[in-house]
Amino acid sequence: MAKLAVNGGAPVRAKSLAWPKWPIHGSDDVKLITEVTKSDRWSFDGPVEWKFAEAFTKYQGAKHGLCCANGTVGIQLALEALGIAAHDEVLVPGMTWQATAAAALDINAVPILVDVEPDTWCIDIAKAEALVTKKTKALIIVHLYGCMPDMTRVQAFCKKHKLFLIEDCAHQHGSFWKGQGVGSFGDAASFSFQESKVLSCGEGGFNTCKTKETFERLYSLRNCGRGYCGDHSNAIQSGNYRLTEWQAAILTGGLNRLDKQVKHRDANAVYLNSLLAQIPGVLPMRRRREVTQQSYFNITWRLDLSKFKKGVTNIKVCKALNAELHVPGYADFEPPYEPLNNCSLYRPQTKPRYKIDAAHWKAINPKRFQLPVCKDAREKTGIAIHHSVLMGTKKDMEDIAKAMAKIAENSSDLV
Ligand SMILES: Cc1ncc(COP(=O)(O)O)c(C=O)c1O
Repeated sequence: MAKLAVNGGAPVRAKSLAWPKWPIHGSDDVKLITEVTKSDRWSFDGPVEWKFAEAFTKYQGAKHGLCCANGTVGIQLALEALGIAAHDEVLVPGMTWQATAAAALDINAVPILVDVEPDTWCIDIAKAEALVTKKTKALIIVHLYGCMPDMTRVQAFCKKHKLFLIEDCAHQHGSFWKGQGVGSFGDAASFSFQESKVLSCGEGGFNTCKTKETFERLYSLRNCGRGYCGDHSNAIQSGNYRLTEWQAAILTGGLNRLDKQVKHRDANAVYLNSLLAQIPGVLPMRRRREVTQQSYFNITWRLDLSKFKKGVTNIKVCKALNAELHVPGYADFEPPYEPLNNCSLYRPQTKPRYKIDAAHWKAINPKRFQLPVCKDAREKTGIAIHHSVLMGTKKDMEDIAKAMAKIAENSSDLV
């Protein structure tokens, strides 16, 4: 008789048992939205937006911060505000959402794809070191899923090579390294408030930065080039990347709940990892000891396939986990991001705009980069699940571990 639910066996968890929902809202958010609706200020430097911006900047421990349209634009504006220009090279991890590299493409810079560390999937600084050239101007790090790069090493690397540091914090509102918030390390940083993120208003973004000069450039860049404080004498070329007062209202409610939620997820992730670590063939990701609070967009782990029946892959295990646990569609178990050198949504050479000259066209071809660790994680060993499951109970974590153990024990049934 079949044991695994994917083969028709009894699942670890009944379909009727619900998982936490995402996104969520509170009655205060609805109240504030109604107030905005009845007010005469719906966008453009509104009071709700700036109150939120101040509070979120303070929470992350950054010097300056302001809202923008989304996390993709946030990276682009950060690059532009720091003066990164056409043909400059920007180091980007090979495992991330395509936006991290696409933002560099959109300012005519050249994304240089760097492989990642096998046990965090964050950019591998030793590999970045080997790719530095005279044209390298910036490093974009991604605080990916539920891991942070070694921030001490990242900062030393940027100092050594005189590179701007940009943090892509789309996944990790509320992560702290030795008590210091992500988004406060880099010359500039970007956050996403897209629906799936841990702080969300459907779509939206945020920039933090170190200096007043960068802040004022970010302000102008998101606001059709207008000067900060109405001084247009230094206006620059740009577009409209603002957000609305309704989005800021939702974010205000979300921010009030954020730290408690991050702590809840972090405690559940630590517990789940302790259970997963006991299962032969399951490797939780590495948590650096300097991390004092870890925020999770996804919780991820790896399979040591030598402990599984030959022919088992992460894709088969994800399918089996979904069948055992009946997680909702938005939280399905899945492999991590496609490596950017072979990513269905990162196709620089489909956009004529980037054909600024033959050398540039060649330089932006992602196929020229080798990303074996990213490839292995995507195609064989990596497993990821959305943070909403971490909003559950200890029993929910036990169910996940139980399902993983059951699949590991019966892996021969998957081939
Ligand atoms: C790592 C990373 N960077 C940037 C972005 C872009 O954010 P947005 O969807 O708000 O444009 C995302 C979105 O998923 C992301 O995951």
